[in-house]
Amino acid sequence: MMSFKEQLNKKIEAVTELIYEMAPEENEEISVIIGAMNYSFKAGGKRLRPLLMYETYKMFGGTSDDLQYFMAAIEMIHTYSLIHDDLPAMDNDDYRRGKLTNHKVFGEDIAILAGDALLNYAYELMSKAVVEGDDISANAKAMSVIAKKAGINGMVGGQSIDVKTEGTPIDEKTLLTIHNLKTAALIEASMMAGAIIAGASDDEADKIEQIAKNIGLAFQIQDDILDVTSSSEVLGKPVMSDEKNNKTTYITLKGLEESKKAVKEYSDKGLEELKAFNKDSAFLEELFKYLIYREK
Ligand code: IPE
Ligand code: IPE
Ligand code: MG
Ligand code: MG
Ligand code: MG
Repeated sequence: MMSFKEQLNKKIEAVTELIYEMAPEENEEISVIIGAMNYSFKAGGKRLRPLLMYETYKMFGGTSDDLQYFMAAIEMIHTYSLIHDDLPAMDNDDYRRGKLTNHKVFGEDIAILAGDALLNYAYELMSKAVVEGDDISANAKAMSVIAKKAGINGMVGGQSIDVKTEGTPIDEKTLLTIHNLKTAALIEASMMAGAIIAGASDDEADKIEQIAKNIGLAFQIQDDILDVTSSSEVLGKPVMSDEKNNKTTYITLKGLEESKKAVKEYSDKGLEELKAFNKDSAFLEELFKYLIYREK
């Protein structure tokens, strides 16, 4: 029997291969921007969002090849959010995924455009699945969920509150809103799209959204914990970035021990809700447990 960690690494490899097949091909005329897109897209990373999408899809018995378009699309949207998050105007960080950040290599102008291009390419891929795919209506629904959760009612909305509240004290409720939007939303979109493309009902998709919300909140609190407890070598990105930018985090509000408890509580909640489906979700369950103690 393979250990969970071996299984996880194998799955990440498979997911990575699938999404790389969807990456834009570099050609001579527009090599700069495509090179910049792929520099960050192919830089590694945990591939958590496409993995969650795939596993949720499997849990609902999905069999369509169209999923691959959505797996690549969500990782492209996530990667664009990281390129822009690292810009001097935002968190001003120099390392990401173990490499210099996009703007450090290509300049701010191209880094902004590489983010724009990844976002746009994600929609090119999803709309191709909508136009040419197996289940056009399920694909359209999944794309609409992703569009909503990536935008003002999701990641972009959360990032804007995040930057606008830098240096000002915020309460737990506001912090929760930021975490919900900037991070949980894309995790929700990932799992919901997997469920929807596999043919899940609206009611099932709503339940998946709730599970993903809890996992997403746990994920961002753990990210904030690692920002103060880990090292740049392990994370592949700078530590103490939040303090540098005067961010309120779960840790500054509640302390490290309470934060660790919160990660476990949100994860356990998600785990319980997942089990309540009574479907084969053994790997997802292990993954949720693993994420509580993740070190990067
Ligand atoms: C980092 O996401 C940004 C957050 C939402 C915390 P990940 O920790 O998933 O980054 P990668 O994809 O592994 O680089
Ligand atoms: C960013 O949160 C979440 C995004 C939507 C990009 P952070 O700013 O804490 O993410 P890291 O720590 O730079 O990856
Ligand atoms: Mg940030
Ligand atoms: Mg950041
Ligand atoms: Mg962080």
